[in-house]
Amino acid sequence: MTPPAEPTSRFLRAARRLPVDRTPVWLMRQAGRYMEEYQAIRAQHSMLEVIRTPELAAEVTLQPLRAFELDAAIIFADILPPLIGMGLDLDFIKGEGPQINNPLRTTYDIDMLATPPAAQTLGSTLEAIRLVTAELGPRDIPLIGFAGAPFTLASYAIEGGGSRNYERTKAMMYGEPAAWKRLMDKLVTVQADYLLEQAKAGASALQLFDSWAGALSKRDYIRYVQPYNTALFKMVARAGVPLINFSTKTSSYIEEVAACGGDVIGVDWQLPLEEVWGRIGYERAIQGNLDPVALLAPWRELRVRIDEVLSGAEGRPGHIFNLGHGILPTTPIENVRRLVDYVHEWGAV
Ligand code: CP3
Repeated sequence: MTPPAEPTSRFLRAARRLPVDRTPVWLMRQAGRYMEEYQAIRAQHSMLEVIRTPELAAEVTLQPLRAFELDAAIIFADILPPLIGMGLDLDFIKGEGPQINNPLRTTYDIDMLATPPAAQTLGSTLEAIRLVTAELGPRDIPLIGFAGAPFTLASYAIEGGGSRNYERTKAMMYGEPAAWKRLMDKLVTVQADYLLEQAKAGASALQLFDSWAGALSKRDYIRYVQPYNTALFKMVARAGVPLINFSTKTSSYIEEVAACGGDVIGVDWQLPLEEVWGRIGYERAIQGNLDPVALLAPWRELRVRIDEVLSGAEGRPGHIFNLGHGILPTTPIENVRRLVDYVHEWGAV
């Protein structure tokens, strides 16, 4: 699992802070509803069917790579399916998002959670990774594997779905600290194994999504999240591939987020790129950070915002262009194409 001393693709070079000819670009949720090709497949198959059928997951992963000159693919899956193997009953409800029909309500529920190996419960995603890398490997396009971070997953498992205030999650965290620790330890075990298996299957970088960590105060982040994310990054470092540490709404304590680990820090759009990079330190690569809603603006306005992100890198190696969060279903295709091409043309002599 030793990586080549010097990767050749722009994305992997930037992740290692090596010089690149052009800034690499990929977009979180790049496979999705804003694409007609994706909608056509989803009209025939449920979300879980697509994820669990390696050929379909591989096809959907490749759709944005055919449409745009992206520098990386991300495997089509979701952060929540690992919870199914642990014993939770997950559905994706049309128009509403994910729903867990038997959420964790008691410490007993937490003790009953299983920690099966990914090879047993997430084999279809691992197989999809093999299919995609067989196709993209020869073209030197890296595939990103991913997993949800323990806090973000715990919040779905406890709330039963998305949440505004994380009331039950925080009540569990504050009221049952020993059970919280057991839950987070189980999630670290399951997610570390899943990420390591994805690298074994061919993923050449791994991203941890702690999308909702920003719901916490800095002190609570340090107490209830940081130890687990730190342990997870340490366990996964063994894969020998670049690790991306992504979260949103965490800019008020981004130093503590970065301290957990990761070669690349994925940042949301709230701070100018130059400001947040200065805070996390230039010995880390940075990924981001255009507001996804900027893609709904007219080109002349969108271009100003892309310029601001690119200028923020100040010519340093180690910037991977991305959005600050997932692309929205209402995004015009034409703006995605223009964005990707513009990032590649930027700075060309
Ligand atoms: O980035 C990619 O293209 C890879 C695939 C991917 C999906 N979800 C596909 C998806 C990834 C990396 C995710 C991560 C994910 N899933 C996160 C973390 C990233 C983030 O955006 O914060 C979270 C919180 C989830 C949980 C989740 N899955 C929600 C809240 C929803 C419903 C909201 C929505 O956007 O519809 C999903 C469903 C989901 N996951 C869709 C896709 C393409 C939409 C499914 C559909 O209706 O076709």
